[in-house]
Amino acid sequence: MSESAKWKGGRGAGGPGLRVGHGYDLHRMEPAAPAGAGRALRLGGVCFPGDSGPVGHSDADVLLHAITDALLGAIGLPDIGQMFPDTDPRWRDADSALFVREAMARVREAGWEVLNLDATVVAQHPKIGPRKAELRAALARILGVDDARINVKGKTHEGVDAVGEGRAIEAHAVVLLAHA
Ligand code: CDP
Ligand code: ZN
Repeated sequence: MSESAKWKGGRGAGGPGLRVGHGYDLHRMEPAAPAGAGRALRLGGVCFPGDSGPVGHSDADVLLHAITDALLGAIGLPDIGQMFPDTDPRWRDADSALFVREAMARVREAGWEVLNLDATVVAQHPKIGPRKAELRAALARILGVDDARINVKGKTHEGVDAVGEGRAIEAHAVVLLAHA
């Protein structure tokens, strides 16, 4: 069997039974309309009220976008921008949970399950810490896995550069899959 066939086949076909995936995303932050184009801030599908929010074609949920790319990347699929182009009117104002669910459907179809997901939101505001449990539960629901497999945390950007000045928000995600 070729190396490529083994790799695609997972453990059952003699390949390694684990895959790691990494995702990263950034959105510009602007004041809400009419002063700017900022949307209501949603992270992991959870609303965080504030004066400014991310700009984007979909709901601009930076955390769900990073998670989608981690899932797709782990199984070697095209990235979120290739699968859900921001030029496609279907994804205008879309709930980004839809992208994660679609990525999870691909993961399951290919015979993989999520062992764990770890994510970091980089934002000067809001504070993630106080709402961690709520975020973990929301992400677990969207992915269809137990909360215990999900972790999320926040970091500031120490007040420097665009993220530190509140003009952008970033998220990183790493996922580990096992062949079911
Ligand atoms: O102290 P250090 O420079 O490592 O980190 P920081 O960016 O100053 O953030 C300190 C702590 O605040 C983090 O470890 C998180 O527990 C929390 N934090 C958060 O919950 N949400 C954020 N958006 C930023 C920080
Ligand atoms: Zn995005």
